[in-house]
Amino acid sequence: MSSEPVSPTRIAIIGAGHVGATLAYALLLSGLASEIVLIDQNRARAEGEVDDLNDGVLFTSTARVRAGGVEECAGAAVTVITAGAGQHPGQKRLDLVEQNGAIVRELVPEIVRRNPAGLIVVATNPVDVMSYAAWRLSGLKPPQVIGTGTILDSARFRRRLAARFDVDPHSVHALIIGEHGDSEVPVWSRVTIAGMTLGELGAASGHDADEQQLQELFRSTRDAAYGIIAQKGATYYAIAAGIVRLLEAIIRDQKTVLPVSTLIDGYYGVDDIYLSLPSVIGRSGVHQVLHLTLSDAEAEALRGSAASIRAAWERIEGTMR
Ligand SMILES: NC(=O)c1ccc[n+]([C@@H]2O[C@H](COP(=O)([O-])OP(=O)(O)OC[C@H]3O[C@@H](n4cnc5c(N)ncnc54)[C@H](O)[C@@H]3O)[C@@H](O)[C@H]2O)c1
Repeated sequence: MSSEPVSPTRIAIIGAGHVGATLAYALLLSGLASEIVLIDQNRARAEGEVDDLNDGVLFTSTARVRAGGVEECAGAAVTVITAGAGQHPGQKRLDLVEQNGAIVRELVPEIVRRNPAGLIVVATNPVDVMSYAAWRLSGLKPPQVIGTGTILDSARFRRRLAARFDVDPHSVHALIIGEHGDSEVPVWSRVTIAGMTLGELGAASGHDADEQQLQELFRSTRDAAYGIIAQKGATYYAIAAGIVRLLEAIIRDQKTVLPVSTLIDGYYGVDDIYLSLPSVIGRSGVHQVLHLTLSDAEAEALRGSAASIRAAWERIEGTMR
């Protein structure tokens, strides 16, 4: 094992594809990191991205950006895994479980061998299954291995609600929980704008929405990636921005509540699986998972979502020893 001490502002990114390279760019613009290491099995690709990023140094922050092998994640406060196949048009995230499971199986023991003290953030899909696999393979404590989960889905949900009710998305509190994928669950019972439920807001402002419109709003949230992938082949700007927000909460020890994928035990009958619930994020990773109260229908949907994730995990469990 490496004994290199963790540098709080060094970030390693594994996978220099659409998501990884865009994350490196967004992170460079953010000024949060002093050092960014971009790692890819296609070394030329990582080096090309690094050259391009470094050419912008006069216009961005002055982080040191370099390419490296997996051993270069030593000393990183966070190693972000974005390596792996994305969805083809029409393909479900869960369809990627075998292919990307093999990549996580290969990478995680190497990461932990070089960097036993750093956090791991997983973005590779299907992200809940990959995060659970990463945690099991790592031997780390659950708070140290975090899936990006439904940070993106919740942002999509808030954007659409904000447009419907004609307010800033920052003023909308709304969560998608469960799987980052087809079985995800909108927590309608907890949606608020200025502390008002949607019914109260509709009555007060005249921006009413009926049940059918709200269901359509959720469908467009859940299926957003299918549309973008059909149009341009991949999604990457929004998830990269979301990962920067997650890294900010970690680097600055902000105790920000974000819906990330984490180990769930004893919540509405869900046990021993990674899925998204609102979680307090700081320097040590997940400081606390918030067990919000759900309606009966939401709890039932969450159990269904956990069952989908578990079924996908069971397809690869035998390869993860
Ligand atoms: N969590 C989310 O919300 C979210 C959003 C978008 C995409 N994703 C997922 O992120 C992943 C990456 O998507 P992308 O569009 O960047 O794909 P991409 O094909 O553009 O890039 C993937 C990169 O991973 C590299 N790679 C593969 N195996 C590797 C290994 N063993 N070691 C090092 N590098 C390796 C490839 O060489 C490639 O450069 C996919 O699984 C995708 O589904 C997740």
